[in-house]
Parts: sequence; structure tokens; C-alpha cells
Amino acid sequence: MSPNDIRPASGKLGVLTPGMGAVATTFYAGVIAARTGVALPIGSLTQLGHIRLGKRTEDNNPLISELVSLASLDDLVFGGWDPISDNAYEAAKRAGVLTPAHLEAVADELKKIEPMPAVFSHEWVKLLEGVDNVKTGSSTMDLAEQVIADIERFRTEGGCDRVVMVWCGSTEAYHAACEIHDSLEAFEQALRASDPRIAPSQVYAYAALKTGTPYANGAPNVSADFPAALELAAQMGVPIAGKDFKTGQTLVKTILAPGFKARLLGVSGWFSTNILGNRDGEVLDDPESFRAKEITKAGVLDQILQPKLYPQLYGEMYHKIRINYYPPRGDNKEGWDNIDIFGWMGYPMQIKVDFLAKDSILAAPIVLDLALFLDLASRAGKHGIQEWLSFYFKSPQAAPELYPENDLFIQLTKLKNTLRHWAGEELITHLGTEYYQE
Ligand SMILES: NC(=O)c1ccc[n+]([C@@H]2O[C@H](COP(=O)([O-])OP(=O)(O)OC[C@H]3O[C@@H](n4cnc5c(N)ncnc54)[C@H](O)[C@@H]3O)[C@@H](O)[C@H]2O)c1
Repeated sequence: MSPNDIRPASGKLGVLTPGMGAVATTFYAGVIAARTGVALPIGSLTQLGHIRLGKRTEDNNPLISELVSLASLDDLVFGGWDPISDNAYEAAKRAGVLTPAHLEAVADELKKIEPMPAVFSHEWVKLLEGVDNVKTGSSTMDLAEQVIADIERFRTEGGCDRVVMVWCGSTEAYHAACEIHDSLEAFEQALRASDPRIAPSQVYAYAALKTGTPYANGAPNVSADFPAALELAAQMGVPIAGKDFKTGQTLVKTILAPGFKARLLGVSGWFSTNILGNRDGEVLDDPESFRAKEITKAGVLDQILQPKLYPQLYGEMYHKIRINYYPPRGDNKEGWDNIDIFGWMGYPMQIKVDFLAKDSILAAPIVLDLALFLDLASRAGKHGIQEWLSFYFKSPQAAPELYPENDLFIQLTKLKNTLRHWAGEELITHLGTEYYQE
């Protein structure tokens, strides 16, 4: 590819978030603060990341935003849906992530972001309270059409050249995809018949794909990773990515596990537990929502450590994950990991990690990068699953016949090589023979 194959990022980019809770409002606030120089967009590859081009001797490391054309923070316009009618300022205040000083610095902008009525059902998110802003309609298809109309109105009123959608809503109860998800025809029939097996997040994903809006899924929900959604994404030429933002404990896991594997250290057990007190934690107190989360968190170690290839090292590994709702902590999650490893001749050792994390502070830059990179993919004419964005997800979507790549460092290499490839630059293989005489 050459950079000329990518349409420039001119005009405004609308970013729509179903869900305007802790993560979404911290994302809006951080972008607004960065625009005015109140705070730095730390953690964002699109804003602070450099990329090496050419040989190590050339010392050519431009910013990623200098290599590929990305929407500027000044050109972002925000909107969203939420079943709770708080505007973004009220929601951010309630989430309690940001200090009053930061919040007041961006208050005027946040107050303008009012949630559109949501497609919502307590069947899918049991423990959410204060719900007062929900769409009604004659069928689920009618609700989808209302979301499509919302997207088009937002596009026109915001003067947006392009729009992307990033799911920042609650984690829904886990239900595997079934026959209504197998083809677009079956799915649309189910929408018309208001089949209760359609999750609200699937309605937003459908509306996004129908309107050519790139879609990323920040929760574990089965929201765009079923055959009907892939069929629609291909038909409409829309890029998608998911699922479940990789922050906190899973981020640490995918940093540590590749290290143990690289040095062939065995792991006999990995116990992860955490306490958190935000609304996300409250929703995850419902076993059905927790099940969705458990599935996206659990697969990571198996894929990285490959117990089938290394049965002596990882074949007996015991992996346990616990999430405990503990209100006093709010968004300040504490995640403990106890890792039982073993080395030479089988001698046991232990590693303890105590991560005092701020969940939404870790997630907000991911929302920004996904919005900008999905928009880039769309302007580059890409559609379907964007596996190069696996870097951002706990449970990366991949082609049905592929296992997902979870190792953070392979994911980063893949992401950067994709950008080099799209920009017409040479890929970096780290072979390095050119520096030495054969
Ligand atoms: N913060 C992190 O580090 C992190 C990491 C991975 C995934 N996530 C996921 O991101 C999502 C958002 O997290 P959060 O901390 O902002 O949670 P939150 O509870 O503060 O916000 C979620 C918002 O979604 C709204 N919502 C629920 N159902 C909806 C629907 N059908 N349509 C529109 N809005 C809906 C809720 O009313 C709430 O305001 C959760 O699913 C969470 O599991 C967060």
C-alpha cells in the first residue's frame, strides 16, 4: 500500500459511545483537557507513540501521527446513549474518577453531552439502577432504526465528516451466539420478530454497521462477533474490532506471561482477585455478567503459555479469577495476583503483584486510540475484523479459524507493522543481519 491509498483525515470525526459511564466520560474529559493543555493524553499510542522506520542506524522515529493521517483531537465531536439521563458532567462527577479541578476545567463542554435514550433491557444488565432514559418501539428492528436515525442526526448536527462507535456500556449477561446470529437474513428476521435472544449491544452494532460506522466493542458482550455481523460488515465495507478493553489485571498478565514463557519458567498456579467499587463492579456482581467477563479473561494465559506444546511447564496450571464488588474503593481497583512459578529442577518460587489501578484512567486512552485507528482503517478501505488492534483487547476478535494473539509484545509488533505497511514503509523483522559482516 502507499499513503495515497488512504483518504486524509479532514473534517470532523464523531465518536459515539453507547454507555456514558466512568470510561466514556473519562475519555471525553481527557480529550477536552488535552486540547486546552490542561492534561497530557498519557497512555495513548496515537498521541504520544513513536514508530521506528528503516535501519537502527538511521535514527528515524517519527510520531505515529506523522506517519499516518489521523483525526486531530480538535476535530473530535462526542455523543452517546445511556439509560440513565445524566449528562456527561453529572455522570463523570458520579463516577468519581477525576479530581474536582480537572472536572471543573472541562465542565462546560461535558454538560453539552446529553445521552440519547438507550436500547436497554434489565434482562441483559440486571443490577443497573436509576434507569430513566430508554427507547420504546414496536419491535427490536424499530429500535435499531431509531439508533440509525440517532447516528444520522448526530452526523448532521455535529457537522461530522465521519463517525465511529465504541461500546462503553455495561457488561451484559453472557449468552452464546445461536442460530439467529448465523446469517444476516436470520438476524434481521429475529430483529423484526423482537427475539429476546438479541442483546441490546447487538442492536447498536447492527445500526453502526448499517450506517457504515466502524464499531469497537469495549466489553465482553457478544455484540459484533457473530456471523451475521461479519456478513453485514463485509457488505457495508466497515471495520470492526473487539472485545473487552485490555486494562488492569489482564494487561499485567499479558506483560508477565510472555516473559515466563520466553525463559521457559513453569507456572503451576495463577490466582487473580480484585476489589472494585464502581458501577462496572456492581453490574459484574451479577453472576451472568461476571460469566461474560470470566470468559474473556480466562483464555489469555492458555493462549500465551501453550500448555499443549509445553505440558511439563504449563500442563497442570491452575488459573482462578475473582472479581469482588466493594463499594468503598470506587474506581480505584486493587488487583492481586499470586503466581506460583517453578524453575531449574522444578524448584518453586512465587511472585506477588498488587496493582492499585484506576480502571477508567487505563481504559480512556484505549477508547481514543480505537476511535482514531478504526477511522484510519475505514479511510484505508479496510473492512471486517481488524486483528492488528488486538493490542487493545482482552479477548481479541480474530478470523474464526485462527486463535487470537494475546501476547502484548507480538500485538504491538503487529500493530506497528500494519501502520508501516499501510504507509508504504519496509516492515521491521528485527533480523538485523545488515549490521554485521557475514
Ligand atoms: N474500566 C476498565 O478498565 C474496563 C476494562 C475493560 C472493559 N471495561 C468495560 O467497559 C464498560 C464500561 O465500563 P465503565 O467503568 O464505564 O462502567 P459504568 O458502569 O460506569 O458505565 C457503563 C454505562 O453503560 C450504561 N449502559 C448500560 N446498558 C446500556 C445500553 N444498553 N445502552 C447504553 N448504555 C448502557 C450504564 O447506564 C452506564 O452508565 C463495561 O462493560 C466494562 O466492563 C472497562
